[in-house]
Amino acid sequence: MTTAHETAVPGNGAGRRPPEAEVAVAVDRISKVFLPKNNVPVPAMVDVSLRIRRKEVLAILGPSGCGKSTLLRILGGLDTQYRGTVTWAQARQEHGRLNAATVFQQDSTLPWMTVAQNIGLGLSGLRLDAAERKERIDRYSALVGLAAFRSAYPHELSGGMKQRAAIARALACEPRVLLMDEPLAALDAQTRLVMQAELQALWRRTESTVVYVTHDIEEAITLADRIVVMSARPGRIKSERRTDIHLDGADGADPVALRAHPGFAPLARDLWADLAQEVGDAL
Ligand SMILES: Nc1ncnc2c1ncn2[C@@H]1O[C@H](COP(=O)(O)OP(=O)(O)OP(=O)(O)O)[C@@H](O)[C@H]1O
Ligand SMILES: [Mg+2]
Repeated sequence: MTTAHETAVPGNGAGRRPPEAEVAVAVDRISKVFLPKNNVPVPAMVDVSLRIRRKEVLAILGPSGCGKSTLLRILGGLDTQYRGTVTWAQARQEHGRLNAATVFQQDSTLPWMTVAQNIGLGLSGLRLDAAERKERIDRYSALVGLAAFRSAYPHELSGGMKQRAAIARALACEPRVLLMDEPLAALDAQTRLVMQAELQALWRRTESTVVYVTHDIEEAITLADRIVVMSARPGRIKSERRTDIHLDGADGADPVALRAHPGFAPLARDLWADLAQEVGDAL
């Protein structure tokens, strides 16, 4: 049986978020079995337990099919058919806030709506009055650098700008936890680096709590305070490591500079060691 363990990178200073911070959501022994049409049960995840702490960025790495998206769907309330418990520190109901909002891998902007309308779409369930709604759209379009593009349609935007609009739509709900499912996977390599730097800066400004799914080890180290590796399907937590390299002399907002930090390569090696066998098993 695999066991979870937590390892700090030796010799590194304090991370961006204190590890002892208050828990925003507790996931306890979640298991999920899909029952497809052929009635052969597919166990997707077994006994997954996690503590997501307020204002931390938690990355999830794992081979294809290990249940990462399923876990995000459960956290986002989109899938309620599972065993185990998800406990939010605060009540679900609060004016103008959601517990969780999701940014997906594929461009999820609606092509017939402007940027402002796309951002407004996420607010529809929140019962904001017209002034609050406009204020949210203005604030979050500005926050992602799209203030001048509020009236633009998605086809008038680059891939990175479209993804920024999708991020603004999720942030505008002021979610307690922002769920991101491979949000940069569809972008080219350079745009990804730029977006990684933008996300770092954005999270610092908004003090977001984030669960970030990626296949990219370097992206996980660059963005996260903590990285969880899941095993091949059925997914379990295989390891858990802190990535306290961000403020230790490295410029966290520059993903290329961060890669030169002496703690980066050993952590990448350890994560790959955790992942390699699982990726092989998943094929
Ligand atoms: N709607 C569904 N019906 C049946 N089985 C499903 C369904 N969705 C997911 N699964 C199964 O659950 C497993 C986990 O799927 P999930 O999409 O969570 O994986 P993932 O880790 O996000 O993979 P990827 O990295 O490829 O996105 C898959 O192996 C798949 O077989
Ligand atoms: Mg997925």
